[in-house]
Amino acid sequence: MRKLSIAPVLLVVCLAIVFAAACGGSQRGGGAAGPAADAFVPGLGELMSLQQMRHVKLWFAGQAANWELADYEVDELGEGFDDIVKFHPTHKDSPVAPRDAIPRMVTQPLADVRAAVGRKDAEAFVRAYDALTAACNSCHQATNFAFNRVQRPESNPYPSQAFAVARP
Ligand code: HEC
Repeated sequence: MRKLSIAPVLLVVCLAIVFAAACGGSQRGGGAAGPAADAFVPGLGELMSLQQMRHVKLWFAGQAANWELADYEVDELGEGFDDIVKFHPTHKDSPVAPRDAIPRMVTQPLADVRAAVGRKDAEAFVRAYDALTAACNSCHQATNFAFNRVQRPESNPYPSQAFAVARP
């Protein structure tokens, strides 16, 4: 009789343990979804700082006729602009939205740089680079950030990176 009465109690206790474990698990699951929901998204200024780095490296790659590196930096710039359109389609009270301005203003100049790099044409590269730089600044003007003015880099801030093509 005593045995019989303890069995359901045990069952309830077991069920409670299983349930608590399952709930705990799902709470942890929810906890994992939580951070994903507010995952870190770099601000436009941060993404632009990365674009600035690539823009600088692109220049030194072109000056060193390191077309492979230049091609890589053009790709990175393209991906950076894709991220900007994705994460910052609009920006504050900017009269021009990045999602509209980027395809209109930088896609072609970037394609022209890519073409010059593909042809390993140093002169065309410089022309296309300057046009790209002008496009960067046109967008800064259009978005009311004209005070962010970029130019050909005056000196190389990356002494740890070899820009010259490696000689075997
Ligand atoms: C959508 C138009 C647009 C284009 C195209 C664009 N920018 Fe920007 N850029 C902005 C805006 C808007 C800001 C200000 C972001 C903020 O509020 O922090 C900015 C900021 C910057 C900054 C300042 C970052 C800082 O925090 O110091 C740099 C540097 C920069 N851009 C470089 C570039 C370069 C280089 C290119 C071209 C390869 C480029 N930008 C193209 C809109 C643009």
